[in-house]
Amino acid sequence: MTDRYAVIGNPIAHSKSPLIHAAFAAQTGEPIEYGRILGNPEDFAGDVRRFVAEGGRGLNVTVPFKTDAFELLEDLSDRARSAGAVNTLIVRDGGLLRGDNTDGVGLLRDLTENHGFALAGKRVLLLGAGGAARGVLRPLLEASPARLLIANRTAAKAEALAAEFSHAAAAGDFALSTPAVAKVAVTAEGVVDSRAGAIATDAEPGRGKAQQPASRQPTSVALQGGGLDALVGERFDLIINATSSGLEGRVPEIPADCLAEGGWVYDMLYADQPTPFCRWGQARGAARALDGLGMLVEQAAESFWLWRAVRPDTAPVIARLRGG
Ligand code: ATR
Repeated sequence: MTDRYAVIGNPIAHSKSPLIHAAFAAQTGEPIEYGRILGNPEDFAGDVRRFVAEGGRGLNVTVPFKTDAFELLEDLSDRARSAGAVNTLIVRDGGLLRGDNTDGVGLLRDLTENHGFALAGKRVLLLGAGGAARGVLRPLLEASPARLLIANRTAAKAEALAAEFSHAAAAGDFALSTPAVAKVAVTAEGVVDSRAGAIATDAEPGRGKAQQPASRQPTSVALQGGGLDALVGERFDLIINATSSGLEGRVPEIPADCLAEGGWVYDMLYADQPTPFCRWGQARGAARALDGLGMLVEQAAESFWLWRAVRPDTAPVIARLRGG
């Protein structure tokens, strides 16, 4: 029997998720069909109820419903809790609903596995303090960079986000599924002492090729938040753009020299052409300037895994979407 899945958002016509999941299904032989649902902003819960009543097995949730899904569901993964958002809804036997978030692990897999960037010990700048930034914060911290600075046009939002995650870390919220991974501690300056060495996946049996501890040695992550003006004189090995500025064809106003020599830039947005932020990086000598297409396919693969317990090969799907 064919199981039904869909992506729900508004707008939804542009979504590449049906294409990606159709490619995963063809590759793995999993008997699924995957559609798109134009969600009603006034009645997201009703749309979900209808889909489940009609036998739907899972949803991807996209703009603007990720926080609605988070608020609707009671059974949430740790990843969804720390992201404050749900992008994957799983219909359990008996119709019980569970919410997860695969965006962060999607970014980490694309960066580290597809492109070979080693985050441990690196100086990382995360631009933006909205939902997209929040969604990737926990897995970034768990990858043990030396330093993680959240910088945002509105400084207070970045400061609040950094403070919130420092606090969560202090409370032991970053406990991972890998037993050997210890808790974290936070100093008054917001320095996170993280013994995390694995990409986060929640504790479910058999989960994840990505549970590869990079290091089991204690490492410190200096987590801070501030405004874009705080970047003067700073240097970073990796700059991740989690702002929506590219949608207006703009880039955040950051100093031209804050990318270290040999540094990488990663734009969580993607487009057929290089995004404004990728062009910014290329113009400043970035060793690599990556857009978010790989992250999109990787988060989809993680959703597919949650639903089907089968992990698709993402490389041919990324290549196909690139037109390669
Ligand atoms: P998302 O869910 O995509 O993160 P969001 O929550 O609306 O969307 O957040 C958008 C982020 O992009 C914010 O960090 C925003 O900065 P402000 O908090 O100062 O608004 C950032 N952003 C949007 N346009 C920007 C621009 N032109 N330059 C810099 N930052 C920008």
